[in-house]
Amino acid sequence: MTDGVGADELPGWSERIDTTTAHPARRYNYWLGGKDNFAADRESGEAIARVYPAIRTTALENRYFLQRAVRFLAGEAGVRQFLDIGTGIPTADNTHEVAQSVAPDSRIVYVDNDPIVLTHARALLSSTPEGATAYIDADLRDPEDILADESLRKTLDFNRPIALMLIAIVHFLFDEHKPYEVVRTLVDALPSGSYVVMTHGTVDLSDPAAREFAEREIRAGRLKVDAVPRTKDEVAAFFTGLEIVEPGIVPVTAWRNPVPEEQRPPLVDTAIYGVVARVP
Ligand SMILES: C[S@@+](CC[C@H](N)C(=O)[O-])C[C@H]1O[C@@H](n2cnc3c(N)ncnc32)[C@H](O)[C@@H]1O
Repeated sequence: MTDGVGADELPGWSERIDTTTAHPARRYNYWLGGKDNFAADRESGEAIARVYPAIRTTALENRYFLQRAVRFLAGEAGVRQFLDIGTGIPTADNTHEVAQSVAPDSRIVYVDNDPIVLTHARALLSSTPEGATAYIDADLRDPEDILADESLRKTLDFNRPIALMLIAIVHFLFDEHKPYEVVRTLVDALPSGSYVVMTHGTVDLSDPAAREFAEREIRAGRLKVDAVPRTKDEVAAFFTGLEIVEPGIVPVTAWRNPVPEEQRPPLVDTAIYGVVARVP
């Protein structure tokens, strides 16, 4: 079964696509080597890569973390329902493909606010017959709207465990967007035995000289940033009252990675924390 909207069913989506400013989904697609991006996304992507050359490695490692976390959830943790907010433009091994390859009856709801992602909704809705997928065009900053969405309620059973996935999205919420309240509203709606998965950008691990250079570029107006890095303690604060799964809040490359440590990119090149936690 598939449900939710497809791009051609939502009149007006094409007018919503703004190609003149960089958008996170398209810029991330550029770093991952995709073709669904415009000049503004590539310029912003290159400007960030100039001060932080490892951004492509970080994007790729973030993606590998997502896949390992979903495999852990659908396998070891036995979760069959996923709410993936900040889906991104589909690429290899999206959440539903990984989850359904482990457990074909997995049910996945995707949420994103970028119209370009909406145009790819069809690809995200290619469910197994035993499972289900849906796509919601909504904003993380309005968690109540997401929770009240009809196709969400039709696809996921809120009496059974759900994995809430917030992968490389929460750092787009500045403090004025009340990120802790947003995450708390979503977590409070989850039944016991659910999981919360997050990756979040950080400069904790960055080389101090590179960090100083980036700060100088930002102050001089040569680098525009639309994301807010947070420290490990600030990331931990999203998980108050939850049971953090081993190995804890770690750089994404260090989370249950079968690749031997000496073959992984150095920590200084993966400026993003990954964490999986269980709702008691
Ligand atoms: C860097 S991409 C990450 C994609 C995917 N989660 C991954 O990690 O591979 C961030 C995604 O979050 C989406 N996003 C950013 N802010 C959002 C918001 N306030 N509401 C919904 N989606 C948002 C962007 O459109 C983009 O698709």
